[in-house]
Amino acid sequence: MAAGPTAPAVETDLKQVHRSVIRGRVKTIFVCESCGNESPKWEGRCPSCRAWNTLVEFRPGRRERRAGSRAPASEVPAQELSQVSVGHLPRLRLSSTEVNRVLGGGIVPGSVVVIAGDPGIGKSTLLLRIAADIAETAGQTLYVSGEESMAQVKMRAERLGIPGRRLVLLQTTALDDVMNHLERSRPVMVVVDSIQAVYDDSLASTAGSVAQIRECTRTLTEWAKVQNVPVILTGHVTKGGEIAGPKALEHMVDVVLYLEGDPISSWRLLRAMKNRFGSTNEVGVFEMAENGLVEVADPSSAFLAERRDGAVGSTVVPVLEGSRPMLVEVQALTSPSILPVPRRIATGIDINRLLLVCAVLTRRAGMSLANHDVVVNVTGGLKITEPAADLGVALAIVSSLRDAPVAPHLAAVGEVGLSGEVRRVPQIQRRVAEVARLGMRQCLVPAMGDQAREERLEGLVSTPVGTLGQAVAVSIPRNGRRPPVDSRAIPT
Ligand code: TYD
Ligand code: MG
Repeated sequence: MAAGPTAPAVETDLKQVHRSVIRGRVKTIFVCESCGNESPKWEGRCPSCRAWNTLVEFRPGRRERRAGSRAPASEVPAQELSQVSVGHLPRLRLSSTEVNRVLGGGIVPGSVVVIAGDPGIGKSTLLLRIAADIAETAGQTLYVSGEESMAQVKMRAERLGIPGRRLVLLQTTALDDVMNHLERSRPVMVVVDSIQAVYDDSLASTAGSVAQIRECTRTLTEWAKVQNVPVILTGHVTKGGEIAGPKALEHMVDVVLYLEGDPISSWRLLRAMKNRFGSTNEVGVFEMAENGLVEVADPSSAFLAERRDGAVGSTVVPVLEGSRPMLVEVQALTSPSILPVPRRIATGIDINRLLLVCAVLTRRAGMSLANHDVVVNVTGGLKITEPAADLGVALAIVSSLRDAPVAPHLAAVGEVGLSGEVRRVPQIQRRVAEVARLGMRQCLVPAMGDQAREERLEGLVSTPVGTLGQAVAVSIPRNGRRPPVDSRAIPT
């Protein structure tokens, strides 16, 4: 019994002696591959995220020395807040107004930007465009490609019509190569595609692990701040969500942009998730075309381009993307079900919202959906996350059920509550203004307190509705006869 525990203890001691002799007492830390937590000693279970076997050894060796080799930090005197001048943040502007908008006006020198998104969504395409812009307007730009060969990048550049003047390509996955290159040259901007592909060989874990992503980002961020040169990284969002994805570095960088869209549709949204130099409410809209991402200046018109006014089961909803109102088309199809439990299929909206709307229509508006399958789709592969689309979804379903189109040139917005009431949504004015701009004639809006009267705005009537039943009565005739557009005539 006694020999058992002592033997490993001696072995550990020897190991430690061995380690410090070989490494000249270089401090070793252990980093969790799952959450990035640092521990002074190895443990079977991470003390922070409680995951097993995720700690890997990390020796902050060469990189620390490299960081130490930079010029000593200057003495920065403390200053009273009232004396601090904001000055003017210089920014590197891009040719794309949509990207500039999302970035808050351009790229701030010394900032670190992450462009995250699903594989194949268009991150490399966007990054190459940005790099080429900066190379054209500001000076030499370094494009580090860790995933594709030089030839592949060149082929993409040809497709995008980028000649590539002053755009320097470096194909490597070793962070050392990147840092060595940066020691010899000082570009005006560096882009790394992708952060998951590069690795720091002083770290024992594999490329793409949280420990690697964090360490590589830390090194690049440090360089960016010291040199006052911006760095843009791309990062894949992993299927399961966060592990080893861009989430692991959100807190370390200045700006996180997400490029989103349905791979089968061509629309792409660029959204600011975090921005230390601008608003996070900005959204840029693009279309993936033959020659790269083309900006969509008027998303509402583009999203409604294929809509037929008077189509059965179709409504227009003014949704908000960030602070930007956009009109999207919601379609619904109901058909008699042969199944004991009829099906509900939602594409582009949350299935739970659809179930809620169906339940409220059945119980509060007298629609018999119990024997019908219901399919709802937001056209163009767009996704609506706000409940403000509830009313539009409900009207599309009723329109299909009654086989009658909603009133022409009508849009509807409002959240549907469980008692059948139409609830308020944020920023109603902006939404209504967008509906008016697109030349529609009527917009159903939630009735707000006593302000339940119709308002006119540039040829648009906004009609307050208090309940789902009222909304249906106003917009979908039961027998082909459309009720007048006047709230006094709305049955209550
Ligand atoms: P890519 O930028 O490689 O995506 P990511 O870096 O996010 O993985 O682009 C992916 C898709 O975009 C690819 O399937 C081809 C398509 N594409 C176009 O449709 N037009 C273009 O001009 C380019 C460059 C790509
Ligand atoms: Mg790519």
